[in-house]
Amino acid sequence: MITEQAPGKLYIAGEYAVLEQDCPAILVAINQFIRVSIMESNSTTGLIHSKQYSQSSIHWVRHGARMVIDNRDNPFEYILSAISYTERFCIEQGIKMKVYDLHINSDLDSADGKKYGLGSSAAVTVATVKAILRFYDVPFSNELVYKLSAISHYSVQGNGSAGDIAASVYGGWIAYQTFNKNWLKKELIHKSLTTILNEAWPGLKIQLLTPPQGMQLLIGWSHKPASTSLLVDETNANKAALNGEYKCFLKSSRKCVLEMIAGFEQNDIQLIQHKIRENRKLLQHFAKINQIAIEIPRLSKLINIAESFGGAAKTSGAGNGDCGIVITDSKTDFTGLKTKWQQNGIMPLDFRVHQVNFI
Ligand code: PMV
Ligand code: MG
Repeated sequence: MITEQAPGKLYIAGEYAVLEQDCPAILVAINQFIRVSIMESNSTTGLIHSKQYSQSSIHWVRHGARMVIDNRDNPFEYILSAISYTERFCIEQGIKMKVYDLHINSDLDSADGKKYGLGSSAAVTVATVKAILRFYDVPFSNELVYKLSAISHYSVQGNGSAGDIAASVYGGWIAYQTFNKNWLKKELIHKSLTTILNEAWPGLKIQLLTPPQGMQLLIGWSHKPASTSLLVDETNANKAALNGEYKCFLKSSRKCVLEMIAGFEQNDIQLIQHKIRENRKLLQHFAKINQIAIEIPRLSKLINIAESFGGAAKTSGAGNGDCGIVITDSKTDFTGLKTKWQQNGIMPLDFRVHQVNFI
């Protein structure tokens, strides 16, 4: 039996803007994993099984007389897409296909089935791609896994930046800029996967960051799961109407995150904290002009408590629930902060940053 794992992620800064090219975000990989185990089947039928995903709920919308299922929050869609693209790549290498059983086990879902929002769809895609490649004995690099996972994930979700995929593949702290999605769409029509995977992807930039010594990351969970794809649908639909204001948001977010990256390069915790607070304000404004809720009251509480202990805090990811993050230093009263969070219905998540070997 072969087992591969991939970590979950959290956005630190640059959310929403990172959906556009040339707009950086900072992400971190978290030591919570999805594990995919694979073994050759001893019959002609294979099995795909996951304990955590067996009771997954589905979203749907009405299109006149039709009920249209939104499968983007269904992990099985990502697993099947990852299998399909990875096998296609293997077939292009002349490999003979086999029948196998695949078992998925996830840390990224709480005991009662609620998601922390640590990017389980990205992690399950990455872990599946790696498991299939290993099963067929195909050597792989981080870049190959990122690209195969990004194609697989994008073909299901259709609207993400794939920053979560990059964090899950590369680990640690990264600065990330997305690729040109129209370019990829066109390439997929007439080129082999092997050719596309060997090409340089326009716009894509993944840079490993080293956090300043003594910098601490705290994570709080709002107890409310949120759907990234539905929020991104809404903001995408508003882009044209917001035009100038949207461009202004992109420009400010880009500047803010680039300065935050400089904070990493200069070992300057205070500069990073300053930019976290600035990015929070930019996201609050972005939510207002889009008439969506990013920083819900529970997340404001999480942030305000962290700020009262000297931390710089903001929502993480698409918001409307999930997690908030805090950047602070080792002098902070962590026990006091976490107790105050718990008294206010926020769950401290005692996770660490996960490093991956660079290959
Ligand atoms: O809520 P999360 O952790 O999945 O983050 C979403 C971040 C967005 O920028 C809003 C979307 C994306 O795909 O980058
Ligand atoms: Mg989220």
